[in-house]
Amino acid sequence: MAQTTPTPVVVITGASSGIGAETALAFARRGAGVVLAARRADRLAALVRDCQGVGGVAIGVTTDVAEADQVQALVAAAVEQFGRIDVMVNNAGYGQFGRVHELSDEDMRRIFDVNFFGVFYGCKAAAPVMIRQRSGHIFNISSIIGKRGSPFHGAYCATKFAVAGLTDSMRVELAHWGVRVTLVCPALTETQFSANVRDGEPRSESKYLTRAAKMPARKVALKIVEAVGKRRPQIVFTAGGKFLVAVNALWPSAADRIMKYYHDDLLGAIQRTNETS
Ligand SMILES: NC(=O)c1ccc[n+]([C@@H]2O[C@H](COP(=O)([O-])OP(=O)(O)OC[C@H]3O[C@@H](n4cnc5c(N)ncnc54)[C@H](OP(=O)(O)O)[C@@H]3O)[C@@H](O)[C@H]2O)c1
Repeated sequence: MAQTTPTPVVVITGASSGIGAETALAFARRGAGVVLAARRADRLAALVRDCQGVGGVAIGVTTDVAEADQVQALVAAAVEQFGRIDVMVNNAGYGQFGRVHELSDEDMRRIFDVNFFGVFYGCKAAAPVMIRQRSGHIFNISSIIGKRGSPFHGAYCATKFAVAGLTDSMRVELAHWGVRVTLVCPALTETQFSANVRDGEPRSESKYLTRAAKMPARKVALKIVEAVGKRRPQIVFTAGGKFLVAVNALWPSAADRIMKYYHDDLLGAIQRTNETS
């Protein structure tokens, strides 16, 4: 165990890139102990150095969040190193392109294994530690389209809705022990996410995907850091994101009409991609 425990002690999945990496750096700048998890060990090693360089204490634990035993081992490594866990950020995830009726069962199961079960395993491993401590804060990363389904991303949306439901349930359950749980719903964010969407999202041909403003990942990171210890049921990003969520709650058919623009843009992009290939 470390001589002086840095605070807070933060475990972050999907830390090798994007929102996870920025969140790690944001905590490290405040002197936190950060436990970084992802599959790419080389990326984690580089980020460990970067976090140490800005004042944090960092370790990397190569982890596939789709494997329950690996997530348990990640949490055990954090407790072994620092003696406690103050913040768990269940962030690892990827996108899947395609209409729902055209997806294979395997595509759907694979994305649930990572985006939903990865979050579930993270919560299940961290909650007993936090209950013992009578303190802690879990952040589960969903999406704006985990609040309103979007065409061609049904598999991804389903995983993020599942994360939202699980998070709402846990928030009330864990409040009994003083543990906080927050759902984080980013809008489009500048990361490697689009490049990693499976099965040919027609990015370069889509007006929406090429022109839409993207938030910096650091903005998501800073909101998470600021929310630690606070009673924040959810963080929904951007005015457009808040508007879509509100319209969908009050008037779903109007939200359908908004989504129709996106659908038609993507359909055109698919046709242009097919013509040029
Ligand atoms: N970017 C956006 O527009 C946006 C919007 C809303 C929500 N989000 C959500 O934000 C989260 C972070 O995404 P990002 O935008 O930062 O994308 P990103 O740059 O592609 O980062 C994704 C991270 O997840 C990790 N990961 C993927 N599969 C994993 C697995 N099986 N086990 C462990 N780690 C895994 C990746 O690391 P390895 O490949 O090294 O394992 C990587 O560190 C995701 O949950 C995403 O759904 C993103």
